[in-house]
Order: sequence, then C-alpha cells, then structure tokens
Amino acid sequence: MAPASISDLFDAHGQTGLSATQKATFEQDGYLIMPGFLSPTTTAALLSETHTLLREFPLESHPLTKFGTGEDSGTHWADNYFLESGDKIRFFFEEDAFNASGDLVKPKERAINKIGHYLHELSPPFRKATFTNQNASIARDLGFKDPRVLQSMVICKQPEIGGKVNPHQDSTFLYTNPPSAVGFWIALEDATLENGCLSFAKGSHHRTPLKSRLIRKDGGTGFSDTDGARFPENFDVQSEVADEEEYTPGEVKAGSLVLIHGNLLHQSEKNLSQKGRIIYTFHLIDGCYEYDQRNWLQPPKEGFSQLYRAASIAQTAGD
Ligand code: FE2
Repeated sequence: MAPASISDLFDAHGQTGLSATQKATFEQDGYLIMPGFLSPTTTAALLSETHTLLREFPLESHPLTKFGTGEDSGTHWADNYFLESGDKIRFFFEEDAFNASGDLVKPKERAINKIGHYLHELSPPFRKATFTNQNASIARDLGFKDPRVLQSMVICKQPEIGGKVNPHQDSTFLYTNPPSAVGFWIALEDATLENGCLSFAKGSHHRTPLKSRLIRKDGGTGFSDTDGARFPENFDVQSEVADEEEYTPGEVKAGSLVLIHGNLLHQSEKNLSQKGRIIYTFHLIDGCYEYDQRNWLQPPKEGFSQLYRAASIAQTAGD
C-alpha cells in the first residue's frame, strides 16, 4: 500500500531532516553547515572511491578538457566532452595542471579539478550516499515537492594548483523557472582557509536576482539573460542590494554537509597549500517546475533521478 504522504514514508523509518533552528538558519543565511553528517566509514568509502576513479581513468584517450566557472572561461564550454557528461563519469582538469606549452605537469591523480556529472547513478558508493532517507527528509523540510538529483560532482581542489572559483549562484548552471536548485556539498577532507574552503555572502539569496543562466548555444554553450523568474516561488525578496558583498568563510571538518541555496553567492580561493580538499556535491531541483531544453545539462532518457522514489526503494531493499 502506498504511504499516506512523503512525511509518513520517511518519518516511519526514524529519519530526521532539519530542526526548526536549522531551517530558520538556512532560510536566513542561504546556507547551513551540518558537522558530522556522514559517518567516518562512509566518508572514507567515498574518498576511497574518488582515489580509485582518479587512478583508473585512462589519460591516453582523454581530450584534456579543462573546467572553469567564469563567464570569460572561453571555448571549453563548447567541448562536447563537457556537454555530454550529464549521464557519464568524466574528468575535468585544473587549468594550472598544464604549462604554457600545454603539457601536463602533474600526475593525473593530482591534476583533476572535478569529476562529473553522473556519479549519483554510476558509482555505487556515491549512489548509496545520495539516495538516503535522511537526504530525502532534508529535501522535504526544504519544501521540495518532487526533488530530482540532476547532477553530482567530486571537486578535488588539488594541492598547489586548486583553482579559484569566482562568486556565483548555482542556479545559473541549473535553472528552473522559477529557480529551485539547492546544493548538498559534503566535505570528504577538512576544508580550511589554507586549502580553499568555501565562503558565503550571507543572506545574498534574498537580494541577488538570478540574472544569467548557462544554455546550449550555437553548438556549444553560453550565458544568457534569465527570461523567467529570478527568485524562487513565494520568496522573501529584499529590495536593498549590497554595494559589495562580504564573504564569510565556512571552514568544515571531513564528513560535514553544507546546504547551499541556488541564489546564494559563494566562492572559494585558490589552493596553494600541500593539502587537497576533496568534496562530493550533488544538486536538487524541484521536478514540479519547468526545466527547458536550453539548459546546458539535459536529462538522461530516464529523466533526472527522483530522490523520494529512489530513497524509498533503497529502504525497501535494505540498502
Ligand atoms: Fe557553487
């Protein structure tokens, strides 16, 4: 028999989502840090899977695709390797992994910026960590009606060459009308000021409209003005805009979860230290909103993964 409601389904298994205080903090600040979210065992399993993936991917057949999030980062957006990565596990290099002549100057395991974008389906350890009743309960508490996992990534932030990420809003890359993206960002290693932890413009999601979105364009991609809603539905929009945002660092221990609102401005500095900063992140959008064909990331033939359905199946199977 079908459960009476999503709440019944997840609460029946004793899974807790967010407390009232956590919900209030997320709504006010646009992000929420939850220390100790993953067990040390699960954190170690995901780190081990990451190292296996880095060790085993074939360099010989790789098109040496680089990755950046700046609007000026040029022609690599057009690279099919990136565009077709939505239902694959692909490897994107740090820009500084190459010298001026274009030669790779780091071992491949120390040269990858990120791995994406279908780990949540194709990698068993990442799948198991994504489709949990706990994550489903959090999505429910954030107000999702039909949460869909549309992409996942491991971001390595490699020692010495980990790239800076300019201030951005995740919904730029994962646009629904109205915006609905939320990032689940999980540290697999300690993230510190030294190795390029995230920092957040607290509360900026209430005052920063989503002005651009990444779309497929002329056989590649480009940024386009947002022609739909620029804030989530029924959202408390503040009219005053900060001249210059102040960023608060979010140093976290391995195993911490950080929830990030899709309209929130956040950034990270370069990692010039000797310590890497490997994290796992996946994003949810609400399947009840329009996701159009202009978006760079298009759904696999099965559609974007349903978090509620998949989590309940995992529970039933005793996974
Ligand atoms: Fe981001």
